[in-house]
Amino acid sequence: MTGNVRVNALNDPLRPRNAARSRAIAAVVTDKTLIPPSPTEDDYVRQVATAQAPELLSETDPFALFSEWLAEALKKEPNDGNAMALATVDETGLPDVRMVLLKDVDPQGFVFYGNLESAKGRELAANPKAALLFHWKSLRRQVRVRGTVTPTTDAEADAYFATRARPAQLGAWASEQSRTLPDRLALEKRIAEVGLRFGLGKVPRPPHWSGFRVAPQSFEFWRDRPFRLHERLVFERAAEADGWTTRRLFP
Ligand SMILES: Cc1cc2nc3c(=O)[nH]c(=O)nc-3n(C[C@H](O)[C@H](O)[C@H](O)COP(=O)(O)O)c2cc1C
Repeated sequence: MTGNVRVNALNDPLRPRNAARSRAIAAVVTDKTLIPPSPTEDDYVRQVATAQAPELLSETDPFALFSEWLAEALKKEPNDGNAMALATVDETGLPDVRMVLLKDVDPQGFVFYGNLESAKGRELAANPKAALLFHWKSLRRQVRVRGTVTPTTDAEADAYFATRARPAQLGAWASEQSRTLPDRLALEKRIAEVGLRFGLGKVPRPPHWSGFRVAPQSFEFWRDRPFRLHERLVFERAAEADGWTTRRLFP
C-alpha cells in the first residue's frame, strides 16, 4: 500500500504545486503565533466587569440540564450544535475518537447512527463502552458523558433512515465506511450502481447501517468561569435503575 502511494505521488502532475504547499504548511506549523496567548489578568477583569456571574448549577436531573444546554447551543452554534465527539477503544486498548451527530436523546440515552462495519462499529461491537463530548464554543461549555452502548432497535433505525435525503440513503449503501478507498471514482461508481439498483423505488436501510445508544453512567457539565476557575458538576449512578448523585469538582 505504502509503495503504491509513493509511486502515485511521483507520477502526480500536481507534485510541484504540492511540494510548495507542503513548504507553506511546514512554515505555518512552525508559526508559534498561531496559538492564541492565555488571557491576561486585565482580560479577565474586563470579562468579570461585563458579565454577570451565573447562578451555580443546581439541577438534579442531568437530562433536563442537558436539554436546556443543547437548546441554547442549537440557537447559538453556527453549525451542528448536536455534534459530539465519540470516543471508543480499539482491540489493543488504543483510544479512538471522531465526531458524530446526536439524533435522539431521552432518559434511555444518546443515539447516533453509522456504519456497523466502520472502525467505530467494530470497536463498539468488541467493547460496547463509549465516552461522548459536546463542546459548544459559542457558549464556552462542555458536557462529558460516559456509558455503555447498545444497538437501537431496527424500527428506530428504519424510522431515522427514512428521514434522510435520498442521496444520503444511497451513500449509506455505497460507502464501505472506514475501509480503504482506492480513488474517488470507485466511490462514484458505487453510488451510480446503487442508484441503478434502487431506481425510483424506496431505498431501504442497509443491513450494515444502524444506530447506537449510549446509556450514561456519568455526566459532567462544565461551564467557563474567569481565571480558569471553571464550574464542574458531575452526575453519577451505579446502575440505570439507580438515582443520580451529584458532586462538584475542582476546576
Ligand atoms: C460534524 C460531524 C458530524 C458527523 N456525523 C457523523 C454521524 O452521525 N455518523 C457517522 O457515521 N459519521 C459521522 N461523521 C463522520 C465521522 O466523524 C467519521 O469520519 C466516520 O464516522 C468514520 O469514523 P470511524 O472510521 O471511526 O468509524 C461526522 C463528522 C463530522 C465532522
